Amino acid sequence: AEPLRIALAGLGTVGTGVIRLLETNRDMVERRAGRAIEVVAINARDRSKDRGIDLTPYAWVDDMQAMAERADVDVVVELVGGSDGPALSLARAALDAGKGLVTANKAMVAHHGMELAELAAIKGAPFAFEAAVAGGIPVVKGLREGTAANALTRIYGILNGTCNYILSEMERTGADFDAMLKAAQEQGYAEADPTFDIEGIDAAHKLAILAAIGFGTRIDFAGVRTSGITEVRSTDIAQADALGYVVRLVGVANLDEGDDGTCRLMQRVRPCLVPFRHPLAAVTGPTNAVVAEGDFAGRLLFQGAGAGDRPTASAVVADLIDIARGLAGAPFSVPVAQLETLDPGDPGERVG
Ligand code: NDP
Ligand code: HSE
Repeated sequence: AEPLRIALAGLGTVGTGVIRLLETNRDMVERRAGRAIEVVAINARDRSKDRGIDLTPYAWVDDMQAMAERADVDVVVELVGGSDGPALSLARAALDAGKGLVTANKAMVAHHGMELAELAAIKGAPFAFEAAVAGGIPVVKGLREGTAANALTRIYGILNGTCNYILSEMERTGADFDAMLKAAQEQGYAEADPTFDIEGIDAAHKLAILAAIGFGTRIDFAGVRTSGITEVRSTDIAQADALGYVVRLVGVANLDEGDDGTCRLMQRVRPCLVPFRHPLAAVTGPTNAVVAEGDFAGRLLFQGAGAGDRPTASAVVADLIDIARGLAGAPFSVPVAQLETLDPGDPGERVG
């Protein structure tokens, strides 16, 4: 069979992870994809940067946007980041040209996912973003397909690896916030602008995407009430511990049925006190965990590495394998409803 030819934009933590995975697991990926996955074009900002991998086998193109126009490209893989700017221009150009689009960019999906999905549907082009939520955990597919027969009532969990790493390391070692943020950045967990992590914005991007998929509604990122972990001090963590709790940044989305029978969506991200006995309390380091409650499936827990080059590359390449096999379906649950947002008001603080 003809290879699936991909253009890779962005050669940072995730982009280099994808190249490593495709090289390391080449034969297995080819068997599972039913054909080879070939990187025919690469681009990043600085061509001269040492990325710790040999890029000489790959064709560098100077103009990232031109990747979308190339006749020899089937799928554009966007690993640049940023909700707008070059990432969004590339994504739109790729779909407009009828190319597939795979991205790990939750900021872009949270802000423009519906528009991109509509463009993909018009053009008949695959659009997939498993890596955008919870790194290596197949939770997008898990919610969209695995729980498709359920009415979900609540989705919640730990959605930011950087914050979870910082909080659980502060808890374990008593280390200070800034030192742990620096360590998370060095390990490639943090966003280019780590404010997105520590202010809860990245978790809010992911929660909005999961809520849309799980509840079959349009993404409503603006409707997520968000607070981050910048105010959490080591003393707060020690006091929580004395009372039988850990502190975790938790995102919660649920449907609220009003007296008139209409359903409204509530979404919030905030630091929470989690009792020791709760499964989320045992989630440490850059791990993520998502709980989904379905009327027939019951309580499901998806857990695994939420950030880093290898887990994220795993999700990107899984999307490419689906596309290679012609298995990539609609990116969001269908049909898509428009739910009103209910402001959750003053947040409570406990998960239990
Ligand atoms: P990095 O900052 O490590 O890499 C970004 C890459 O994009 C770099 O190679 C950079 O080039 C390139 N780039 C940035 N701006 C431009 C531009 N204007 N033109 C051309 N190239 C550009 O980010 P990550 O790899 O960590 O993240 C990539 C995406 O994956 C983001 O959307 C992120 O949110 C998402 N993600 C990240 C995860 C992680 O654990 N790191 C996990 C899940 C998703 P150069 O190297 O030359 O500067
Ligand atoms: N910065 C993100 C995190 C990367 O720490 O979870 C994974 O999406």
